[in-house]
Amino acid sequence: MSLTPISGRFLLSNQNELRHKITTATLREHKLRHEPITCLTAYDYSAARLVDEAGIEMILVGDSLAQAVLGYENTLSVTVDEMLHHVKAVRRGVKSGLLIADMPYGSYQIDPQAALANATRFVKEGGAEVVKIEGGEKRADLIRRIIDAEIPVAGHIGLTPQSVNVMGGYKVQGKNLSGIEQLMRDAVALDRAGVACLFLEGIPREVAAMITAEVATPTIGIGAGPECDGQVLVFHDILNLTFAPPAKFVRRYADAAELIAHAVQAFRADVKSHQYPADEESYHLPRETKAGLDTVLARKHAMRR
Ligand code: KIV
Repeated sequence: MSLTPISGRFLLSNQNELRHKITTATLREHKLRHEPITCLTAYDYSAARLVDEAGIEMILVGDSLAQAVLGYENTLSVTVDEMLHHVKAVRRGVKSGLLIADMPYGSYQIDPQAALANATRFVKEGGAEVVKIEGGEKRADLIRRIIDAEIPVAGHIGLTPQSVNVMGGYKVQGKNLSGIEQLMRDAVALDRAGVACLFLEGIPREVAAMITAEVATPTIGIGAGPECDGQVLVFHDILNLTFAPPAKFVRRYADAAELIAHAVQAFRADVKSHQYPADEESYHLPRETKAGLDTVLARKHAMRR
């Protein structure tokens, strides 16, 4: 049997740059070297290619696709099958980055055996390399079981959107001493359980800094300040494709909504004014066929007279 090294090199098409395959080990190396880790969500093939080829280390098929792509009100409705459909598309676009799939609400809370079966589907059918689970110390045993089945797990604590009804809205967590204590217990429990990384969402900068210093696993922040080992944002947020005012932590890097609306309106105007398609944008008959056709049409025309 021959072995293919997992850290093989890839030639990226748009930058002519050689890059290594990112693994869970790479994330730990980044933490030890204090080298910031980048993560973006992607939900389809084209976004996955753009994000991967830009050199983003982690690509998350987040359950935020429920709102960003499927138009649901929150993340609670999205199913394993819907998530898998998108994970497969992203898999086809990612070569170098580490592919993480979010386990949706209901896929791991009810029964550990079902959770294991669902996590396995994300790896086997979707091609994910890591699965992400929301929740702190109460998830530690389940996370151990999934890791025992050879599936790396990313933890996610703080403002966990799947708990929106329990939290009473999307609220920053860990703002008082008991909240901070709970977050520290959560972080340490998941670190001990062996998570590949820990997403920290919607928590004060000071608390995220304490967690990051305390745990061995890399922390990836979203609305958790600059001391985290890495940062994640939602693809649609950074491009203004969300149809809603951005959260405080979102930085918009481009206005794709304006770009797309402009292009769509221009297409409509061109069709309505007979400007599109032009002759150069049309297919033409070969010269001999055209000559033959003209002869046939001329004969028909003459016979009708
Ligand atoms: O679903 C998602 O996009 C996420 C990130 C916000 C961390 O979980």
